[in-house]
Amino acid sequence: MSWGKAFIELNKLDHDRNSFDCGEDELNTFIKTQAAKHMQAGISRTMVLPSAQPLLNKKHAICAFYSVAPSSISREALPANLAKKLPKYPVPVFLLAQLAVHKEFHGSGLGKVSLVRALKYLWDVNHHMRAYAIVVDCLTDSAQSFYSKYGFEVLCEHNGRTRMFMPMKTVAQLFENN
Ligand SMILES: CC(C)(COP(=O)(O)OP(=O)(O)OC[C@H]1O[C@@H](n2cnc3c(N)ncnc32)[C@H](O)[C@@H]1OP(=O)(O)O)[C@@H](O)C(=O)NCCC(=O)NCCS
Repeated sequence: MSWGKAFIELNKLDHDRNSFDCGEDELNTFIKTQAAKHMQAGISRTMVLPSAQPLLNKKHAICAFYSVAPSSISREALPANLAKKLPKYPVPVFLLAQLAVHKEFHGSGLGKVSLVRALKYLWDVNHHMRAYAIVVDCLTDSAQSFYSKYGFEVLCEHNGRTRMFMPMKTVAQLFENN
């Protein structure tokens, strides 16, 4: 199996959700049973990277996916040097709610590709509707070390997970003039 060129919106008719396996049950369940419902409900959008070739059932396998949603954080959760520059009400952020790679591709660079594409997607949204930062809630220590590698910093504990963030000003450095 090889991955296609572009991330596109999840489509139940075209994308084979059942064959997706990233090794984490919670993320597997999310793509199989919740991602499409959440899009229909208007609370998040899931983008998938389909396989280049269809499966025998004529659907494309999902090689990787990410889900994004608008959110907000408490100003007090931010480091004091950042918080002092912001007004005293909730701070708008983009939530990178899920990101996962099919285990067949682990270690082949697709996690990095997926993260960069997700950041670029949110950077483009930021041109129309501003957010202060991108936040991620890490399911495991391994996820935390993956995001740390790319510059995300620990923000707080949130629902038993470590919440990390990257200011949009840092994201800008990745894509401005590139
Ligand atoms: C985390 C995940 C997305 C990484 O995907 P991947 O395709 O294996 O990662 P890549 O091959 O693109 O690795 C890119 C770089 O990150 C590093 N890396 C990968 N996983 C890492 C981890 N868990 N911790 C630290 N570094 C990691 C690689 O060593 C590589 O570094 P290099 O460029 O210096 O060689 C993938 O393992 C996954 O889907 N896991 C299950 C779901 C999950 O935990 N998602 C996180 C969101 S909650």
